[in-house]
Amino acid sequence: MPRQTQLEQVANSIRRYARAHRRYERRHPEIFNPIEQERLRGELAEVVGKVAAGPPRALDLGVGSGNVTAQLLRLGVRVTAADVSPHFLSLVRRRFGTGVDTVRLNGIDLVGLPDATYDIVAAYSVLHHIPDYIGILDEIERVLRPGGLVYLDHEVNDEFWRKDGCVVELRRAVAKRKVEAPGPWNPERWRWQRFLIPSKYAMAIRLKFDPEYFFGSEGDIHTWEHDHVEWSKVEERLHGLGLDVETIRDYLHFSAEYPEDLWQEYRDRGCTDMRTLVARRPAH
Ligand SMILES: C[S@@+](CC[C@H](N)C(=O)[O-])C[C@H]1O[C@@H](n2cnc3c(N)ncnc32)[C@H](O)[C@@H]1O
Repeated sequence: MPRQTQLEQVANSIRRYARAHRRYERRHPEIFNPIEQERLRGELAEVVGKVAAGPPRALDLGVGSGNVTAQLLRLGVRVTAADVSPHFLSLVRRRFGTGVDTVRLNGIDLVGLPDATYDIVAAYSVLHHIPDYIGILDEIERVLRPGGLVYLDHEVNDEFWRKDGCVVELRRAVAKRKVEAPGPWNPERWRWQRFLIPSKYAMAIRLKFDPEYFFGSEGDIHTWEHDHVEWSKVEERLHGLGLDVETIRDYLHFSAEYPEDLWQEYRDRGCTDMRTLVARRPAH
C-alpha cells in the first residue's frame, strides 16, 4: 500500500478518535467489563512472569485510554505509552501523570523508538488499526530486547468470520433473549418503541452525512470480511523474523451486553472468536 494512503488512513483514525476518545470506555463494553479485565490481567501477569530479569520495561503500542498500561503498572512494569492519537496521549498523561512516558507515533513504523529496548511490546485491539499490520511486526522485533516478548491480543480469529459458526449462533441467542425480555419497554420486541428513542434520530442523521460512521467511527481498517487481520500471516512473519511463538490462545470474548449464562454456555462448548498470541525474540 503506498505510504501516502497509509498516512491518510492514520490521519482518519486520529480524526475519528478526536471525538470518540471521550466515549471510548463507554463504547467498548467488550473490553471494559470485569470478566475481560480479569482475563487480560491473567494474560499480562503470565507475560510479565516470563521476563527473565525485572523490573521489566514495556511498550504499550496503541495505548488508547490506558487499558493495558494500567494493568502493567499494577504488575510493577515501567511503561512507555505510544499512540498516534494526541487526544489519547493527553488523556493518558492526565490519568497516570509522570508514572508513564508517552510517545506519539506516525502510525506506520516505530521510528524514534530505540532498538533492543523493551522486554514486552503489547498491542491489544490495535493491529486492525495499523495500515501495514504485518510490516509493523518488523518494527516490534527491532525495539524488542533479545529475549523480549510481543503480546498481541483482542483481534478476532478465523472462527469469527464463519457464516455457520458458533459465533453467529451466539449472536442469535443473545438477540432472542432481548426479544423475550419481560416488561412493557422492549424496543426489540415492539419495534414501534424505537420511534420514541431520540438517539436513533441523531444516528440516522449522522449516517446520512457520514455513511461509514457506524462501522468506521474509530477509523478501523482491517475489520471487514474482505480485509481483516489474518493470524496465519502474522505467524508467518514472526517466524520469518526469527521469533518463537510461545502461546496462541483462542477465547470467547465477553461483552457486557451478553447474558452471562449464555456466554458461559458457549464458552464451555469451546466456542471462540478472538485470539491472543505471545512470541519471543530469541536471546542470542
Ligand atoms: C481500539 S483502540 C485500543 C486501545 C487500547 N490498546 C485498549 O486496550 O483499549 C486502538 C488504539 O490504536 C491507536 N492507533 C490507531 N492507529 C494506529 C497506528 N497506526 N499505530 C498505532 N496505534 C494506532 C488508536 O489511536 C487507539 O488508541
